[in-house]
Amino acid sequence: ASGCKIGPSILNSDLASLGAECLRMLDSGADYLHLDVMDGHFVPNITFGHPVVESLQKQLGQDPFFDMHMMVSRPEQWVKPMAVAGANQYTFHLEATDNPGALIKDIRENGMKVGLAIKPGTSVEYLAPWANQIDMALVMTVEPGFGGQKFMEDMMPKVHWLRTQFPSLDIEVDGGVGPDTIHKCAEAGANMIVSGSAIMRSEDPRSVINLLRNVCSE
Ligand code: DX5
Ligand code: ZN
Repeated sequence: ASGCKIGPSILNSDLASLGAECLRMLDSGADYLHLDVMDGHFVPNITFGHPVVESLQKQLGQDPFFDMHMMVSRPEQWVKPMAVAGANQYTFHLEATDNPGALIKDIRENGMKVGLAIKPGTSVEYLAPWANQIDMALVMTVEPGFGGQKFMEDMMPKVHWLRTQFPSLDIEVDGGVGPDTIHKCAEAGANMIVSGSAIMRSEDPRSVINLLRNVCSE
């Protein structure tokens, strides 16, 4: 895909220095930041919520694009607080709501872009009816909940199918994506690339970000 964007996931960074870690990613050429919100209910882990996002927006001050990956059971609850905190995109899980249509509308009314995510066990056909109303589809390539897991290559047919059906839709992959797996994602048609440990664990995040972007945009 041409013009791939790279969004580091800061989940595996030093969370006590979150602001500095975000800045380090932006200074290393990140196109956006992917922020993982976990509520200990939708996934077996807890991270942070909108108060932290608000502090980050204030501290970063260079108007970064925040893609909020909402791994929470009641995504309806945090739309307004996240918008007020400065989130740019609200990516919720299809599995977490009975009324995606109302949620999509609410996210737009609060001035954010709309992302719709599916877990590995969710068929892409359930996402398709909403594809024309969203800005981005997120195809999870691990079970959500933890960084540093193994990339699930068998999710690539979902990406490819979406790319064929919806040529102009932004399609994001998340989980186990790095220099070893980016080719598969690019080939399938993903254009928004989340990468956590592969970037955070590198001594030279800039070169990893550039490599991912170059392979993906070929
Ligand atoms: C997993 C999160 C991912 C994760 C990515 O639940 O949604 O964003 O942090 O990290 P890596 O790239 O290490 O799999
Ligand atoms: Zn994520």
